[in-house]
Amino acid sequence: MNNLLARKPVADIVASAEIPGRRVPKVLGPVSIAAMGVGAIIGAGIFVLTGTVAALNAGPAIVLSFVLAAIACAFVGLCYAELSAFLPVTGSTYTYTYATLGELAAWVIGWDLILEYAIGGAAVAVGWSGYFNSLLGMLGVALPPQWVAATGQAVVLADGSKATAIANLPAAVIVGLITVLLIGGTKESARLNNIMVAIKLTVVVAFVGLGAFYVNAANWRPFIPANTGDFGSFGFSGILRGASIVFFAYIGFDAVSNCAQEARRPQRDMPIGILGSLGLSTVLYVLVAGVLTGLVPYAELNVPDPVAKGVRVMGHEWFSLFIELGALIGLTTVILVLLYGQSRIFATMASDGLLPPVVGRLHPRLRTPWISQIVIGIVVAGVAAVVPLDILDEMVGVGTLFAFILVCVAVIYLRTIEPHTHRPFRVPHVPWVPLLGILSCLGLMAGMTPATWLRLAVWLVIGLAVYFGYSRFHSRLLNRLSS
Ligand code: ALA
Repeated sequence: MNNLLARKPVADIVASAEIPGRRVPKVLGPVSIAAMGVGAIIGAGIFVLTGTVAALNAGPAIVLSFVLAAIACAFVGLCYAELSAFLPVTGSTYTYTYATLGELAAWVIGWDLILEYAIGGAAVAVGWSGYFNSLLGMLGVALPPQWVAATGQAVVLADGSKATAIANLPAAVIVGLITVLLIGGTKESARLNNIMVAIKLTVVVAFVGLGAFYVNAANWRPFIPANTGDFGSFGFSGILRGASIVFFAYIGFDAVSNCAQEARRPQRDMPIGILGSLGLSTVLYVLVAGVLTGLVPYAELNVPDPVAKGVRVMGHEWFSLFIELGALIGLTTVILVLLYGQSRIFATMASDGLLPPVVGRLHPRLRTPWISQIVIGIVVAGVAAVVPLDILDEMVGVGTLFAFILVCVAVIYLRTIEPHTHRPFRVPHVPWVPLLGILSCLGLMAGMTPATWLRLAVWLVIGLAVYFGYSRFHSRLLNRLSS
């Protein structure tokens, strides 16, 4: 039992990053790091889910759903900022948990983060496929519908007949292309990411700026449509349910913490990167949601490309094309950062002995964890090809919220056991701010369906089987303690 609670000393964690064979080049500055954050954050949440939530849950009050979810993320973001400046190593929540709650909890979290990063990557790839298909449609090219939807879903063919989808091919292909890019090198990926993030921001700002002139204020009334009698279907419960769904839109600010080891000055740059990217995204989301529900009556927004629909109301064909292209590029950056984060978390777990060493092996010339990047690419592409978006979305949400709660717990715990260690960035009012973070995450989790909870439980049971079947026997920390 004591073994399962064995903690990895903070000094060891920081020192392990400096072991020559494991040292990675420190190539990222604050702009690249914040761009990684925005790259991971603004994606399927705003480009796809905004429409669904406005149409089915919250109406124009979706802007309040965005604000509620942002408040929860702000509490958690402060905790991430403290921990990633304090423990500037890769591995994110997994590393923080190892230093606080011990090895078993760290394993559970590492396993759980697969839901956020790998499954998150698959979910966004599905959103990418939706915009890709609609862009091709605008250009007069039609892909066979059986090849652009999750396996088994009903689709309508060009001649009007019904068929069953085989796989979502564009979703799998984009994952493959990004995997190749990531293997090519971190610096190259970050550079391309910066350019794509700039394009994505331009598109979002242009949508808000131009869209504001076409808003019909009558579409904002009623601002909070009356509840239909079902929990989560409009009214105040709809705003809450909407917040649990659009929470997905904020996922990614935490992925910034994976860059800590590759950052030039992590103590200063990590808090800037995390809180800056979160703040910027919140402002943009509220503006986009406000303009979109002002352009189109909320009941008509349940479509795969709601932002593009908003643009069509303005009546400028060229602008629709620009927005579709920008959304596509925007979604690409999200997949890139999530797949990058996943490989770095696996590499950290491998260096602790909890996963086989081959997972952490760097390519001799490219210095990237190429083998795990390939395996991740194959699995994520497979999941994106066969599983529908709604199932992926909720799995990502519940897995991420679970990890966020542990980050808040880790801040409180580390302050108690190591109160005097210097912290370059400090969360104000501990334990109250982390406690508010925990409560708000629990509130968002309460809005999820029982099926999602069940899937999370099954996933964690599989993870425990792997831990007790492999990891426990290969753990560097446990082997050291017992020798
Ligand atoms: N926040 C990311 C998105 O909205 C995951 O796509």
